[in-house]
Amino acid sequence: MVSYKELGLVNTKEMFKKAIDGKYAIAAFNFNNMEQMQAIIQAAVETKSPVILQVSSGARKYANQTLLRYMAQGAVEYAKELGMENPQIVLHLDHGDTFELCKSCIDMGFSSVMIDGSHHPYEKNVELTKQVVEYAHAHGVTVEGELGVLAGVEDEVSAEHHTYTRPEEVVDFVSRTGVDSLAISIGTSHGANKFTPAQCTRNADGILIPPPLRFDILEEIEKQIPGFPIVLHGSSSVPQDLVAIINQYGGAMKDSIGIPEEQLRKAAASAVCKINIDSDGRIAMTAAIREFFAKEPSKFDPRQYLGPAREQLKALYKNKIVNVLGSAGKA
Ligand code: G3H
Ligand code: 13P
Ligand code: ZN
Repeated sequence: MVSYKELGLVNTKEMFKKAIDGKYAIAAFNFNNMEQMQAIIQAAVETKSPVILQVSSGARKYANQTLLRYMAQGAVEYAKELGMENPQIVLHLDHGDTFELCKSCIDMGFSSVMIDGSHHPYEKNVELTKQVVEYAHAHGVTVEGELGVLAGVEDEVSAEHHTYTRPEEVVDFVSRTGVDSLAISIGTSHGANKFTPAQCTRNADGILIPPPLRFDILEEIEKQIPGFPIVLHGSSSVPQDLVAIINQYGGAMKDSIGIPEEQLRKAAASAVCKINIDSDGRIAMTAAIREFFAKEPSKFDPRQYLGPAREQLKALYKNKIVNVLGSAGKA
């Protein structure tokens, strides 16, 4: 059993309060390996930003829970070594689906967990979330719950269609469970194909324009629970320049489309204080690696292709922090 405090991590409590008051959002970047972690920390240090290191259950299996614990501790020390006096770093479980998984993460040094009961009937979601909150709060760990279902893949669970969050449920859910933040469904979804071409319109240049997020539902939720921290999953923007590089160098990403950055900027200025980004990082790394392999077919040292991939990732993360979420200078 190790407490996140011993690892130098923080929970989301203060971070989210400041983000709501300051009208910005904190990036939650998913990671599974050293290069992703280095890129996240370098980006956070260079922009003086708080950051959430986010681990899915799949990532935990891939990377090993013991290694992750030391990587998170290493991330804090690395940030200090890079010149950040007081790093504000959260280690967060993304889409936890059972009490046992959440407990195990808390016992291994996570400072925040998500219990995603959104696929269960409402009462079961309340019961499960409450159980996690009781254990987590006893250890100073913050908890994210979810109401409403995102279309696409949610860590081995996939849904065909959105079920938007019902604003009339949020007061009951938040008060009965005691969660610290609430993930909502207002039109985002996981992965790099968030909308079908049929759901989009085309601009004069033939570029696909996705339907806007349901800001009306977000506003209604904010009215119900004023000042309460809201989380947006599925918030990659799927940069078309990077998708073009992937396809130019042998990839086959078709009809990829994400959430426009202006909409995320607008959300970040509201009670949305955590924005989840995973797919964009995957795309950035893959673009750099594909380009390297195509141009340097004789090279085989992983540092030679993972190095540029890490640089591409860092540039992407810095852009998110500075130009989209607005958390630069807040740590
Ligand atoms: O919400 C899903 C995240 O992008 C994590 O994806 O389960 O493939 O690690 P993963
Ligand atoms: P994206 O697939 O849009 O990056 O969403 C990631 C996410 O929500 C992780 O929980
Ligand atoms: Zn998610």
